[in-house]
Amino acid sequence: MKVIQIEHLQKAFQNNIILKDLRLSLEEGECFGCLGPSGAGKTTLVRIMIGQLDIDQGRCLVFGEDSRHLSARVYEKTGLVLDEQGLYERMSVYDNLKIFADIHRIEDERITEVLKKVDLLDEADKKACRLSKGMRQRLVLARALLHRPRLLFLDEPTSALDPVSRHLIHHLLLTLKQQQVSIFLTTHNMQEAALLCDRIGLLHEGSMIEEGRIDDIIEKYHNHLALHIELTDHRHLNLDAQKDADDICHYLKEGKILKIHSNEPTLEDIFKKLTGKRLNL
Ligand SMILES: Nc1ncnc2c1ncn2[C@@H]1O[C@H](COP(=O)(O)OP(=O)(O)OP(=O)(O)O)[C@@H](O)[C@H]1O
Ligand SMILES: [Mg+2]
Repeated sequence: MKVIQIEHLQKAFQNNIILKDLRLSLEEGECFGCLGPSGAGKTTLVRIMIGQLDIDQGRCLVFGEDSRHLSARVYEKTGLVLDEQGLYERMSVYDNLKIFADIHRIEDERITEVLKKVDLLDEADKKACRLSKGMRQRLVLARALLHRPRLLFLDEPTSALDPVSRHLIHHLLLTLKQQQVSIFLTTHNMQEAALLCDRIGLLHEGSMIEEGRIDDIIEKYHNHLALHIELTDHRHLNLDAQKDADDICHYLKEGKILKIHSNEPTLEDIFKKLTGKRLNL
C-alpha cells in the first residue's frame, strides 16, 4: 500500500481553482519534495492531505484512508510541521512537549531524547516566546517527532532559518529517512530538495508540471550540445558543440581553452524554461 495516493485532485477556493487534476504518490520510506513558488498551492496540498481542507474532485488517500475522514490511527502515525507553529508561548520548551506527550501517553524519557536530537536540551526551561526562530522551528519539529511518526509532513521546515538550524534539521531528516520514515516536504530551496528528496514535483499554478527523480528531470532538459568554455584570456563563451564546432576546434588547436564543460541546467533553470517564472521566490 502506498503511504499517500492522490488521483485527479481538484481544489478551488470560491471560484479560484488552486489545485488542478493532481496525481501524486508516496511510497514507504520515500521523501517527496514539492517545489513551487509562493502561491503555487503547496500548503493547500499539505492541508488537504492532513484532513484540514476538503477537496472538490478526485481522491486523496493517506495510509489508505480518505483524507476527509482520517481516523486516529492515521494521526497517530503522522507528524506535522506547518507554517503556523501553534506553540504555547508562555510555557517552557519542555512543557510544550510534555502537553503533547501526555495526550499521546508518551514517556518523559522520550521528551529528553527528542530534545537532545534537536539540540534544545539546554533550552528546556526557556519559555517558547524567548526562543530564536531556528530554535522555535526545532521545537516544532521535536513535537512532530515525539510520537515516533511513520509519515512526516514538513511545510517549508527550514525557510529563513540560520545555517546551523538548517543543517541540524537536514541531518535529522536524513536519519529519519534511514529509519524508513516517509516524508512529504515542501520547499523553495533546490539544494534542500537535492539533499533530501528521492523524487520531486514542480508545482506551478496548481499543476504538477514535472515530476520524478531530480537527476532524471535534469537529464531530460540537459542539452549536451551546449558547452561552456573558459578561454586562457578568461573570456567565458557559451557555444553549441555542432554549430560552433569550427570555433571550438580553432580554440583547441591554438591551446586557448582553459576549461570546457557541458551546461547542466539547474531545477531553477528548468522551472524558468517551463513557466517563464522563478522558482525561488
Ligand atoms: N483559505 C483560503 N481561502 C482562499 N484562498 C486561499 C486560502 N488558502 C490559500 N488560498 C490561495 O491559494 C493559493 C495557494 O496558496 P498556498 O498557501 O497553498 O501557496 P503556497 O505554495 O504554500 O505558497 P507559499 O510558498 O507562499 O507558502 C494562493 O493564491 C492563496 O491565496
Ligand atoms: Mg505555503
